[in-house]
Amino acid sequence: MGNIDPLQKINGDFKGKDILSLTQFSPKDIEKLFNVTWKMKHLASDNRPSLILQGKIASLLFYEPSSRTFGSFSSAMMRLGGSTIAIQNPQAVSSVAKGETLEDTIKTFENYCDVIIIRSSNVGDSTKAAKAAFFVPIINAGDGTGEHPTQALLDLFTIYEKFGSLNNLTGLLAGDMLNGRTVHSLIKGLSLYKNNTLYLLSPMNLKLKKDDLENFRKSGIKIIEITSEKEIPKTCHFWYWTRVQKERFTSLSEYEKVKHSFVLTPKLLEQFGNQKMVVMHPLPRVGEIKEAVDSDPRALYLTSQMKNGVFVRMALLALVLGKI
Ligand code: CP
Repeated sequence: MGNIDPLQKINGDFKGKDILSLTQFSPKDIEKLFNVTWKMKHLASDNRPSLILQGKIASLLFYEPSSRTFGSFSSAMMRLGGSTIAIQNPQAVSSVAKGETLEDTIKTFENYCDVIIIRSSNVGDSTKAAKAAFFVPIINAGDGTGEHPTQALLDLFTIYEKFGSLNNLTGLLAGDMLNGRTVHSLIKGLSLYKNNTLYLLSPMNLKLKKDDLENFRKSGIKIIEITSEKEIPKTCHFWYWTRVQKERFTSLSEYEKVKHSFVLTPKLLEQFGNQKMVVMHPLPRVGEIKEAVDSDPRALYLTSQMKNGVFVRMALLALVLGKI
């Protein structure tokens, strides 16, 4: 917001900060967020009315479709007594349709609210928005193939809730490593901690960019790229399955070739999983996890992982708006 560096570190103080990337966080910042998240979880789970954000308004500008991020941010504001200006598809229903720029759209909506939550198809749009905003913080709700920081925060919370630590973990990320913004943010998040190992299972043409892989490795996390389910170690704490994203392909036939490269079935879980692990997915899924897996107690994607999205976003909003 304003002239301040939008990617400034949180450094213990969330108030007024743009939330654009996991690189802004330290483990201490994440611990602070989680401490507030527990409180929010109790508050929401008991359906206790809260007025923490009474009078506060969030604008949700979603240039790309969304169910969970849009729904959970809306729910988070409402659970804390705040309200929203909710605009899904501004290209069709706002003055963006008349040619208004992203910058002018941000400068407009910041006059009507206290925080802007933006999703778009273009990497860097949330940073652009943060540079354009004079006086409200911007939260990145997913920028193309770039990052999805609030998803990673809820994923980290879900893993932490299960294992009590974000150090010494072995995880499997499967699907689209090239275009998956959720995996980019999650890898950055897990890189902040010690002694983590990630196995990345993807088709050859959907591997991480070489530069990204090198940068992640430099940050200290151990990354092992694999191309077959047979290489999945039995020792994983979590499997994080992801969708091959049709919308990122320029050729439909190229998408068709790889869309079901890796499908999670009960058999796969039995062959390569273990009893203590959890199965996660940011969702939506389009066939890459069989419905038969849903009832497995290790599957968290339709239950606690999604619910945690509300609690983490409640905590983040309260902190960014300086109310806690
Ligand atoms: N996980 C996630 O970003 O889902 P939506 O696209 O439905 O918001």
